[in-house]
Amino acid sequence: MARLKTGVLISGSGTNLQALLDAAQDPDYPAEITLVISNRSDAAGLARAEKAGVATQVIDHREFADRASFDQALDTALKAAGCAFVCLAGFMRLLTADFTESWRDKLINIHPALLPSFKGLDAQAQALAAGARISGCTVHFVRPEMDAGPIIVQGAVPVLDGDDEAALAARILEVEHRIYPLALRLIADGRVSVAGDQVRISGANGAGDAALISPAG
Ligand code: GAR
Repeated sequence: MARLKTGVLISGSGTNLQALLDAAQDPDYPAEITLVISNRSDAAGLARAEKAGVATQVIDHREFADRASFDQALDTALKAAGCAFVCLAGFMRLLTADFTESWRDKLINIHPALLPSFKGLDAQAQALAAGARISGCTVHFVRPEMDAGPIIVQGAVPVLDGDDEAALAARILEVEHRIYPLALRLIADGRVSVAGDQVRISGANGAGDAALISPAG
């Protein structure tokens, strides 16, 4: 079966990109990473793509007069590479409604919190400041509103006494690396459908682990 041709947009270290590249190494994985685009030429993730033999492109938002023309350049590059699907992986630019609507249900994002809590920047710091006992990460379809859209997969982690932002971010990131390849696989296998604000997954296996209770005692 043809693999889903996927573009990945990054701005930084690209560890989630790496998780997707690693998953796609398996010929049985139903998606392939066709193109990686960064808006920053110094993004470490670019080297990860090159190492995996995946085409890269830098499209620097500062070279465009407005968001619309930047997004148009992204769209053109993705289509030229034959991408049928797009993953945002630490891509730190807001996309226009024109872009998100034209890629509707073909564009997903990962966010380091259990949405709809803690949208926006510094989600891990927001969870700490709110005193949350459990946080996590979310893969969701992108809608024009920031960090909103039907939720595909979530993973939860405890927030431990003494956590600082770095400790919590690292604990969440490990789970991000599990759920992003999972979400893309479910979609590329044709198991995911969107009904309004909700996602249905055919043959979903219930919860992966036992209930997470934090603190445990
Ligand atoms: C990840 O934690 C991702 O969830 C977050 O940026 C980090 C990127 O790390 N994304 C957002 O905050 C988007 N709102 P990575 O470059 O190592 O994948």
